[in-house]
Amino acid sequence: MNDVNKAMAVFHSHIGGKLLNVVPMLLLFSLGFVLGMTSDSKFPNFYLSSVASSPSPAPLPPQNPQVGLARFLEPPSVMHNMTDEELLWLASMTPKVRSTPYHRAPKVAFLFLARGDLPLRPLWEKFFAGHEGLYSIYVHTDPSYTGSPPEDSVFYGRMIPSQKTMWGDMSLVAAERRLLANALLDLSNERFVMLSESCIPLYDFPTVHAVLTGSNTSFVDSFVNHDSEVRYNPFFADRSNITLAQWRKGAQWFEMDRALAREVVSDDTYFPAFREYCAAQPSCLMDEHYIPTLLSLIGWRHNANRTLTYADWRIGEVHPQTYGRDDVTEDLIRKIRGGAGSGRNCTYNDGANGTCYLFARKFAHDALEPLFRLAPKVMGFG
Ligand SMILES: *[C@@H]1O[C@H](CO)[C@@H](O)[C@H](O)[C@H]1NC(C)=O
Ligand SMILES: *[C@@H]1O[C@H](CO)[C@@H](O)[C@H](O)[C@H]1NC(C)=O
Ligand SMILES: *[C@@H]1O[C@H](CO)[C@@H](O)[C@H](O)[C@H]1NC(C)=O
Ligand SMILES: *[C@@H]1O[C@H](CO)[C@@H](O)[C@H](O)[C@H]1NC(C)=O
Ligand SMILES: *[C@@H]1O[C@H](CO)[C@@H](O)[C@H](O)[C@H]1NC(C)=O
Ligand SMILES: *[C@@H]1O[C@H](CO)[C@@H](O)[C@H](O)[C@H]1NC(C)=O
Repeated sequence: MNDVNKAMAVFHSHIGGKLLNVVPMLLLFSLGFVLGMTSDSKFPNFYLSSVASSPSPAPLPPQNPQVGLARFLEPPSVMHNMTDEELLWLASMTPKVRSTPYHRAPKVAFLFLARGDLPLRPLWEKFFAGHEGLYSIYVHTDPSYTGSPPEDSVFYGRMIPSQKTMWGDMSLVAAERRLLANALLDLSNERFVMLSESCIPLYDFPTVHAVLTGSNTSFVDSFVNHDSEVRYNPFFADRSNITLAQWRKGAQWFEMDRALAREVVSDDTYFPAFREYCAAQPSCLMDEHYIPTLLSLIGWRHNANRTLTYADWRIGEVHPQTYGRDDVTEDLIRKIRGGAGSGRNCTYNDGANGTCYLFARKFAHDALEPLFRLAPKVMGFG
């Protein structure tokens, strides 16, 4: 034992017990005295400099600004400069606690795949009007497009950094993942809807929002196809163990929840295989197979296995029917809303609901005028 320890031992055994209770009180008392003298916010500096023995005290480190949760909830600007790799990595992160320590109104993210300005934009403006805070919009255009919607448009400033896409190509899937990843960065986005520039809403915003946020499944078309367009290639077995039994087909226009959107952006197992295959096969049409097959590969159960976006497929055609000015009637919109003879029961959360479709395609630019006219009466907005 050195001298100090010896002295401490003596102190403890004789008077420590009593005195130790007194010392903190004395300290508190003098602290209160100093506090009373300097009731302003500079107290810590004053106190430290008054007790420091050095005549010229070292400067204090700058105070750390306090950071609240709001800073982490604020999504980055859609005009970021992240690479796809950076963006997808960031978007793959997810909160694990299921409840939120703040008020969170679930938003629906509308993801538009377009060439440039949206031809049916005025209809969508009417659809969104008055529902700010419950949706967010993301637009992927051709990178050569330099135009912009007017400043008072809800589409203004919502274009994400985009890359060239080609019909039936993996670049289209890459654009979908890019849109999803951007939308995932806004933690309030709960549902993700992929739309083309020829899509229209069939109901008003409150109905679309309620159907999507109230569902416990995603709506992704995913079915087994045994016809001549199977498009499965043994390459997928050699490259990634993807079997013909796991192979699926489906339209690319989906409505998915956050959990599934995260799976799509974070897939680094199968996406590279599809991309590799497409690089060697022009017009590989993998946009109709990648996401439907991914769902089967990861065994995703929370899916209605159908899309909420109507399209009229004609036998033997590569594209669905396009509706122009003369085709758009009240009867057409009502038929589509009612399921348009799809032969489906359109179950929703395992019950009857009757909402078969929320959106429909393909509508030409010249269909805008009759759609605009029918919207208040048939779709319920405008
Ligand atoms: C994005 O901008 C920041 C700041 O100018 C820069 O440090 C970063 O390297 C840029 N990233 C890319 C991918 O260009
Ligand atoms: C279907 O469900 C949605 C969302 O809960 C609701 O808004 C709509 O009224 C329902 N429709 C019918 C016909 O039950
Ligand atoms: C495919 O499966 C085999 C056997 O289970 C495994 O050894 C191999 O690593 C897998 N390959 C890929 C690319 O997943
Ligand atoms: C959709 O398909 C998956 C995989 O086959 C299945 O697990 C799920 O139950 C199906 N969903 C409905 C609503 O039938
Ligand atoms: C969705 O909800 C319905 C009704 O509550 C339930 O019967 C069904 O099992 C749920 N489905 C999934 C995939 O969680
Ligand atoms: C729709 O529901 C009815 C009654 O439950 C059933 O008889 C019929 O087979 C169902 N149709 C389809 C296509 O699932």
